[in-house]
Parts: sequence; structure tokens; C-alpha cells
Amino acid sequence: MFHPLRVSAIERITDDAVAVTFAVPPELRETFRHTPGQHLNVRYSVGGDEIRRSYSICAPATAEPDAPVLKVGIRLVDGGAFSTYALKELAVGNVVEAMAPTGRFVLKPRPGHFAAIVGGSGITPVLSIAATLLAQEPAARFCLIRSDRTAASTMFLEEVADLKDRYPGRFHLVTALSREEQAAGLPPGRLDRERLTGLLPALLPVSSVDGWFLCGPFGLVRQAEGALRELGVDRSRIHQEIFHVADDGPARSVAAAVTAPSQSTLTATLDGRSGSWPVQEGESLLETVLRSRADAPYACKGGVCGTCRAYLVSGEVRMDRNYALEPEETGAGYVLACQSHPVTPEVELDFDR
Ligand code: FES
Repeated sequence: MFHPLRVSAIERITDDAVAVTFAVPPELRETFRHTPGQHLNVRYSVGGDEIRRSYSICAPATAEPDAPVLKVGIRLVDGGAFSTYALKELAVGNVVEAMAPTGRFVLKPRPGHFAAIVGGSGITPVLSIAATLLAQEPAARFCLIRSDRTAASTMFLEEVADLKDRYPGRFHLVTALSREEQAAGLPPGRLDRERLTGLLPALLPVSSVDGWFLCGPFGLVRQAEGALRELGVDRSRIHQEIFHVADDGPARSVAAAVTAPSQSTLTATLDGRSGSWPVQEGESLLETVLRSRADAPYACKGGVCGTCRAYLVSGEVRMDRNYALEPEETGAGYVLACQSHPVTPEVELDFDR
């Protein structure tokens, strides 16, 4: 369900990125309280077309009774309708519709040693995770390894520096710039699997890190995951969120090439109400549901954000690509409706589970 939220502040944080803060009215405080790492799905109409996007919340999570601070980071994406609008036209006082924060790339504060490898705007959810953890859990430590092109293009530079000043013994920052020399930090160059495999053991005791958070472009996240696996880190300790997958990016099919039945029927439950509809040729199960239920949840329609996650009650589906669900989730029967096509004549999804 979408709620109208008024923009209360817009800060330019780099040449091509802004931080947008929304005012949360008292009656929506509980709805918009987020767990660090979650994102906000927003929608806006431009020229009669509805645009939906998901943006990670960068502000630390507040505890009751404090009002939640709803601030997201938005970087301009080439040809991105909402990011172009946010950077060029969005103004304080405008109203944007948003759903309650969602997402499973989260860390609830607890004692332990945590680390993140982020690239570009991938810092956004990790900033919320690190700031909340360090403020609320005195027995926690956090190591942030961040990769950016240049210092000028680095988002949330001040906020990260502030964590370093505030928690000198518990926050460790390592910066890699791919196109610029820097006085401190790593020599220039990309953080790929080989470099990370050599670098990580020199930075921290890899095997005793309680949770790894990888966030950023597809390539960086995959390279970092490969390095951690090579260093013996268990999959269950690696959490990842991918930003910006090119449309022609490699697909991760859950079920490889299978023939679709000539006619399939989808039954779906959403907000406690069920319905059945024929699936038209070529469309995703999300599109089938959206023809009759405009309230079906989605944002990216690209297999990245996970907003359309649904439980597969019966039947089989084939997913075009999946950058959002962890293997445990697909193993437990969850699918991305925006990427799913029927493999059996009858398919049933439950969006409420
Ligand atoms: S809508 Fe984003 S993964 Fe399906």
C-alpha cells in the first residue's frame, strides 16, 4: 500500500547524487520505522506514466519513541526516469508516494564483528547498517571496504568520516579509488576477486567476521562473493544486494530452458483475497496479476529489488533472472513474480507469506 509523503529536504551529495528526506506524519511513524539496510519503494507519475523505483534508506534506524528519519540516497542513472526527475526537478514540499520499508539485506544490532564491501551507491544501505550498529551496540565492530571511481564521486563521504571520528576503535574504513591516487588508503585500481582474496586477510580476521554485507554493482558483488568463498567464508554469513544490473546482464535462471504449457492459469492471494486468471503468452506472473490487481507489489520489474517476492504454493515456474532472492529463499519456495513464467498448467502464488 502506498502512502503520500512530503519531501522535507534535498541535499546534493555529489555531482550526480542527492539525499532526499521525507517527512513522516505521526500516524505513519510505525509504518515507516525501518530495519537498517531496508529500502523504500516509491512511485511517481511523469507524463501520465507511473514510475516505480526502490531506494535504500541511508539514515540510521531510530528506536521508539523517536520519529523515524526517512532519508534515501539517489544517484543519477543514465536514462533513469526517477533519478533524473529526483536530481533535476524534485523540490522540497513535493509529494511522493512510498510503501513501508522492505528488504531482507538487514542487520539488527547485535554484538560481533561485521564487514561490508561496497561499490558506488552500494554505500547507502550499509551506512544505515553501520551507523545503527555502532550507535546501539557497544560490543560491535564494523569494517567498511568501499570502492569508488574518484573522491568527488563518493557518496556520503562526510557521514562515513563522521563514523570514523566517533568510533575510532570500532569502525575501520578502507577506501579504494579506481581512477585516482589517494594520500591514504589503497593504491588505485578496481577491487576484483584476485585483489580482494589477497587483501582481506591482511585487513581483518576473515573467518571470525560474523556477517559480510556486499552491495553495489553486479560485477563487484560477484567478485567479492567469489573472494570470500575462496577464503572459506560460509555462504550463510554473506549477505548481498545488487544495484544496477544491465538489461543484457547475465541471467540466473532457476529452472533452465523448459517449455511453457500452451495455456496456464495463475491463482494468486494478495492481502487475503484470491483470484484466478489465464496467463497470456510471454507475460510474467506479475503482469498477469497486475491486469486485475493494481495493488500487486513491485518496483524494479528486473529481478533486482525483491519487492515482488511470492511463495509458490503449487505448480512450477521458470525465472528469467534472480538477483534478489538468496538460495535459502528459493529453496524454501519463494519466487520473484516479475521474473516467473509458468511451467505447469496450474500455478498458485501467495504474496502474503
Ligand atoms: S519487482 Fe523488483 S524483483 Fe520483481
